[in-house]
Amino acid sequence: MTDKYCVIGNPIAHSKSPQIHAAYAAATGQDISYERCLAPLDGFEATVRRLVQEGYRGANVTVPFKLEAFRLATRLEARARAAGAVNTLVFTPEGEVVGDNTDGAGLVADIVRNAGVPLQGKRVLMLGAGGAARGAMLPLLLEGPRELVIANRTLATAEALARDFPEYAGRIAVRGFAQVEGAFDVVVNATSASLAADLPPVPASVFCQETLALDMMYGNKPTVYMAFAASHGARVRDGLGMLVEQAAEAFALWRGVRPGTADVLKSMRQ
Ligand code: ATR
Repeated sequence: MTDKYCVIGNPIAHSKSPQIHAAYAAATGQDISYERCLAPLDGFEATVRRLVQEGYRGANVTVPFKLEAFRLATRLEARARAAGAVNTLVFTPEGEVVGDNTDGAGLVADIVRNAGVPLQGKRVLMLGAGGAARGAMLPLLLEGPRELVIANRTLATAEALARDFPEYAGRIAVRGFAQVEGAFDVVVNATSASLAADLPPVPASVFCQETLALDMMYGNKPTVYMAFAASHGARVRDGLGMLVEQAAEAFALWRGVRPGTADVLKSMRQ
């Protein structure tokens, strides 16, 4: 019997997840189906209940339902709890709805494996302190960076985010954009500025030849942040690698086998 999965969102027509998971299933010989599922804005819970009834084994969750999925889960994995959001649901045979979050692990996998930049002992700068930044915190910290600086327009939001990781207090610093000093090994744009083709007001001095500058967003052309970072010597990456890697993490949770991602990433770039 084919095991059923889907991605729930609104809108959902643009989602690349079905294509990615179909490629993983083919490469690993797993018998699964994976489709797009449009949930009404006020109908996420009802949609999940229907999927469970219809025998689905799990689902990915995207905008705008990641917080609702967090509240609805009957059990939460540690990284979902730290993220305050859920992007992957596992429907167990015992009737549990397990909530996990693979976004941060996807980001780390893209930085460490695909870009070849180990984070151990490094200086990392995160731009933004919203949901996307929160999701990346624990997976980034677990890699053992020397310092993780959070820069945000609204300082209080960044301070609140830092306070939620007290066991890493000695390694986390919070700054306004203008107060960020020195060059960084990795600079992650986790603001939503790229959506509006805006540039977060980060000083150019954070970038150098050795910097990896990553934008969580992706599109047909480099974001303004990527262009800015590249013009100051940094190596740049968009969010497509993170997307492909978070999907591989979810696939591994569901199927117990982690697919290779290189071919999928290459074909999506074409
Ligand atoms: P997401 O879920 O995408 O993270 P969010 O939780 O609304 O969205 O967070 C958006 C983040 O992008 C915030 O850190 C926001 O900064 P503020 O906390 O000061 O609002 C940041 N952001 C959005 N637009 C920005 C811009 N044009 N320049 C800099 N930061 C921006």
